[in-house]
Amino acid sequence: MYVDHDPVAVAHSRAVLEGNDGADILAADLRKPREILNSSEVRRLIDLNRPVALLLVAILHFVEDADDPYAAVTELREALAPGSMLVLTHASYDGVPLPPERAGEAVDVYQSIRNPLIMRTRDEIARFFEGYDMVEPGLVPMPQWRPDTAPEDEDPYAFSGFAGVGRTA
Ligand SMILES: C[S@@+](CC[C@H](N)C(=O)[O-])C[C@H]1O[C@@H](n2cnc3c(N)ncnc32)[C@H](O)[C@@H]1O
Repeated sequence: MYVDHDPVAVAHSRAVLEGNDGADILAADLRKPREILNSSEVRRLIDLNRPVALLLVAILHFVEDADDPYAAVTELREALAPGSMLVLTHASYDGVPLPPERAGEAVDVYQSIRNPLIMRTRDEIARFFEGYDMVEPGLVPMPQWRPDTAPEDEDPYAFSGFAGVGRTA
């Protein structure tokens, strides 16, 4: 089940998923999780009485603190059956040796398209996993989460963020 609030992403997904009865795209906003959980699309495809995987990949850094992303993530977690998994990545400058002149570049790009990119610290990102047991290796810089290639071969500027997987108790 895919969810996006951008009409272009939704239209593209519809085209890609056409004829696929096992997958769907829902036009909805992560900031309103109840609408997602109660949607006929989710109810048709997902049995929330059984463990599922919730993927919040590269999305929470678009939700500002004023919109309380923590409350949205908590509401989603509360709807999940025990044994469900949360897969989450989030942009961050923590631990990235960015020279000051480069530090604001990505944020500036998104500001210029009025789609703010919110860099959070590792501790702030870790709070999204409240109520989950972390799966090894925990919340780590993205290239270090069970890498297929040597993490030092990755461009630290291309992957300036954290990845983690948690399991509901
Ligand atoms: C960087 S993409 C990541 C997409 C996908 N998770 C992936 O990893 O390929 C971020 C997507 O989040 C969507 N998005 C941003 N804020 C959102 C919100 N509040 N509700 C739903 N979708 C949102 C954007 O429209 C965009 O398509």
